[in-house]
Amino acid sequence: METEKGSQSEDERDDAQIVRQMEDDMSKLNGIDRRAFLRRASTTALTLPLIGLGVVELTSCASASSGTTLSPSGGWKTTICAANEPGEPMIITGTIYAPDGRTPLEGINLFVYQTDATGVYSTKSGEDQRNTRIHGHMRSSNEGKYEFRTIKPGSYPGSRNPAHIHAYMSGPGYPEYWIDEFHFTDDPFISDEDKRKAAAKGNFSPILKLTRDSSGILRGVRDITIERCSRNCTGR
Ligand SMILES: [Fe+2]
Repeated sequence: METEKGSQSEDERDDAQIVRQMEDDMSKLNGIDRRAFLRRASTTALTLPLIGLGVVELTSCASASSGTTLSPSGGWKTTICAANEPGEPMIITGTIYAPDGRTPLEGINLFVYQTDATGVYSTKSGEDQRNTRIHGHMRSSNEGKYEFRTIKPGSYPGSRNPAHIHAYMSGPGYPEYWIDEFHFTDDPFISDEDKRKAAAKGNFSPILKLTRDSSGILRGVRDITIERCSRNCTGR
């Protein structure tokens, strides 16, 4: 027991040291080496809550992706973050349906982009946010399926804006338009009323209930009925 106690004290000292280092990093974060902070965050702050769960490796996109690099966009499955992107790995799946809401539709493009885990886009002012670091597109399978692997985005820093993933649909006969952003039911900035309304839509809800699979990866499902755009059209 004494050994255990001694070990715990050492762990606690290590944790305290890490937290002090993180606080030091936070104080320097304004305008300096943000990437260095994110690299450290991926191995310390984001890891700490997971140590007890035995899933310490789940601190970057690597766990959600099948390889070490981005999957080529365009298949029905893709990975939209690099393997070393810090954050909680997450896999979103669903089926795209024709306007009747029942017939799975093949060959429909779904383009998505999002912030990183700290709520920040990587584009510079004036650049198209669609080209931010974490983005990609899929084309639905012959069963209408799509899947993308990513990390859970964060809220914009200092805001009450819910974490979200932007999404655009297009395909033969379907000019591009944007659809409601992907949101998450565990987000503190989404009202209970909005969650209730969304829940009534079942799998078509844009507010996803995330569950953790046996590997510890977050999973969410969203089915989408495509429209011939009459609103939210991008003109592309
Ligand atoms: Fe956004």
